[in-house]
Formats: sequence, structure tokens, C-alpha cells
Amino acid sequence: MKNNFTFTMIKPDAIEDGYMGLIIDKIINSGFRFKFLKMTTLSIDDAKKFYQIHKERPFFNELVSFITRGPILVAVIEKKNAVNEFRKLIGSTNPLNADKGTIRKLYAKSLGENAIHGSDSDDNAIVESKFHFGDSDFFNGL
Ligand code: RTP
Ligand code: MG
Repeated sequence: MKNNFTFTMIKPDAIEDGYMGLIIDKIINSGFRFKFLKMTTLSIDDAKKFYQIHKERPFFNELVSFITRGPILVAVIEKKNAVNEFRKLIGSTNPLNADKGTIRKLYAKSLGENAIHGSDSDDNAIVESKFHFGDSDFFNGL
């Protein structure tokens, strides 16, 4: 079960640009099922916690200010081998390098404003899902 789900976040740029529905549609049409879903806006403190792994990086402040500037959509989605399958679907971090047909190639503007997040490991998928959706039974005992 552990490698059957991942966490995703549709970022403020994609919501502002009106791509939320198209991105949800693409995720569903790629065989993922939504398990948890909510719209929210991160506080500065929450954004710093969520992205603490990047706190030493030069782009950290820019990232925190970007991710808190408007609503985001957060979700837990299921599919076999979800983390890897979803990273393939979203494409490279920089949309210029993303493969044709990926979400970032279609809807992202730049390396910093790249439309969508996908967990990079099964363990981080659990941590990030709990961060947004609490200690549900779904994430325990995996
Ligand atoms: P994500 O975590 O959002 O799925 O993206 P990722 O794994 O592909 O990339 P990561 O290295 O984890 O970076 C996290 C987010 O930080 C922003 N970023 N800005 N200005 C820059 O040089 C820069 N580099 C990264 C992006 O929003 C990236 O998705
Ligand atoms: Mg990452």
C-alpha cells in the first residue's frame, strides 16, 4: 500500500491562470484517484515548515512568498507506483526541460512558478499528506 499514493499541490500560479480544472482532469485521466482534496492558503509559517528541506537554498524566501501569495489545492492521490508515476506526469522542475504533454510543459511558466508539486519519495508523501490532512487512519500503519 505504501507506494500506492502520493501528495500533490496545485500552486498559486496555476490557480491564478485558471488551470485548476484542466490539471485535475489530466490527473484523473492519467489513472489517479483522488483520496483527499481541499483548497487552502498557506501562512508564511506553514510554508516555511512545509519547505524546511529547502531552507538553506538561495531561492527559499522567494519560494515561501510565492507559495503563500494565493490559494492552493492540496490532494492525496492513489495509483500503483504513485510517486514515480506522478513525477513523470508533472515533468521536470524547470518547464523548459519538461517533456511534451507533461503538466509543467503545458501549464507552468518558469522554474520558480511551476504549477504543481509532487512528493519525491514514499516517506515524504506520508509526511506531506499528514501535514495537510492530519493523522488519518489512511496514513497510519503503512
Ligand atoms: P516540487 O517539490 O514542487 O514538486 O518540485 P521539485 O521536486 O521538482 O523541485 P525541488 O527541487 O523540490 O524544488 C521545490 C520548488 O522550489 C522552487 N524552485 N525555485 N528559483 C529557483 O532556482 C528554484 N528552484 C526550485 C520550484 O517551485 C520547485 O518546484
Ligand atoms: Mg521537491
